[in-house]
Amino acid sequence: MFNLALLALAAALVYCSRSTSVVVAAAGFALVGYVATDYLIPRVGPSFIKIGLFGKDLSKPGRPVLPECIGAVSATVYLFTMFFCIPCIFYPYLVSTSGGGQRDSSVERAGISSAIFPHSRLSEYLSSVLCLESTILLGIADDLFDIRWRHKFFLPAVAAIPLLAVYYIDFGVTSVLVPGFMQQRLGSITSIDLGALYYVYMASMAIFCPNSINILAGVNGLEVGQSVVLAVLALLNDALYLALGTDATKSSHRFSMVLIIPFLGVSLALFKWNKWPASVFVGDTYCYFAGMVFAVVGIQGHFAKTMLLLFLPQIANFVYSVPQLFNLVFCPRHRLPKFNEKDGLLYPSRADLLENPPKALFVPVLRLLASLRLIDLEVDSKTGGIVSCSNMTVINLMLVWFGPMREDKLCNLILAFQFAIGVAAIVLRHCIGSLLFGHDNLWTIK
Ligand code: UD1
Ligand code: MG
Repeated sequence: MFNLALLALAAALVYCSRSTSVVVAAAGFALVGYVATDYLIPRVGPSFIKIGLFGKDLSKPGRPVLPECIGAVSATVYLFTMFFCIPCIFYPYLVSTSGGGQRDSSVERAGISSAIFPHSRLSEYLSSVLCLESTILLGIADDLFDIRWRHKFFLPAVAAIPLLAVYYIDFGVTSVLVPGFMQQRLGSITSIDLGALYYVYMASMAIFCPNSINILAGVNGLEVGQSVVLAVLALLNDALYLALGTDATKSSHRFSMVLIIPFLGVSLALFKWNKWPASVFVGDTYCYFAGMVFAVVGIQGHFAKTMLLLFLPQIANFVYSVPQLFNLVFCPRHRLPKFNEKDGLLYPSRADLLENPPKALFVPVLRLLASLRLIDLEVDSKTGGIVSCSNMTVINLMLVWFGPMREDKLCNLILAFQFAIGVAAIVLRHCIGSLLFGHDNLWTIK
């Protein structure tokens, strides 16, 4: 009944969007995405288990088996909603005659008069969808074959090639602004052209965003939860631009909203089934798909640097994980917290460093991290040698700092931190941005 009401509301929103905004259409499609994902997940779960796509919930008594890779449902529904969005987004530009050299002349509709069909916007849109499709394929391959970390790490950059090609053709800006206090020292240069390096930077973003979500994982609800928080933060930033920005920034941020709002719809439905106590796992498919949505929006919306600011918690988790990711310290297959059946709480999981000693050079670093309370180090009281350390993830660090806690509390705590850091990052971005560069593109006088 509730879902039917949502569908009716969705139909009304999509209909209204003809005379209002594409953002309203995106909200309508988000509702459709939510209802479809919520309907499908419980129905397809058993089929996933039947073909071997399942995982054990390691933080529950008896380790129950749950369907894995269910993020593929959200991702597929998202792709379909994106397809259906196309006519709505470009409706005001559609020509009344078909072909015959008339495609670039449009009729007056929805307040847009004699507008030329925005081919560049369509190519941005289609390349984004293509990039997401390839990323979803990569995620499904990983869930099916458990691809090794070093093999799958760089693949998202390949999926991003269509995106970078369209960026090169349609926008091509590769310069970054120099902060005011450095301009004098650099001989009054206001911007530096990074050229090809800018494309390397954008490709790195396509690699970083999906992988960073995948390694901040292992607690029910956390992969989707952090993506929902990221989506809300990105939408907050978009809303600021729609309210205060210039025409150019408004257009980029409207594009961002069109991609993110339906993503929020399918993600909220997935969260409903993945939150504690989870009945499904999202799989690497969802982590890659979600991360790539943000990379795509940052690149195509031309605010890749601001988008990275929203990823501060994921960046912190990645940097903190580097010693284990690069095997300076032993990295077990799973770094998720350790479940204690007796009290039902999660404790920091540990890397056994007796059997797998860390690189000698890194031993003093481990001791320093322990003295700063950034890891929990177990030392042999007789020999003084290192026995084990807590696994280096932000998830375990929370347990080191705040003590053992139940899985849902831990997830909520991390999400609350993430949201607070994200809001602070947006505020600082627009305040410090104008101090550093003399102006901020949000406050630019029109
Ligand atoms: C990444 C992490 C790994 C972490 C795993 C959890 C790195 C380098 N890798 O690996 O440390 O253990 O994610 O997703 O940081 N699971 C649960 N509860 C959950 C979520 C997952 O028990 O809430 C378990 C299930 O057994 C599930 C499995 O983790 O089947 C999924 O692991 P997978 O996503 O394949 O691990 P990676 O992404 O390779
Ligand atoms: Mg994973």
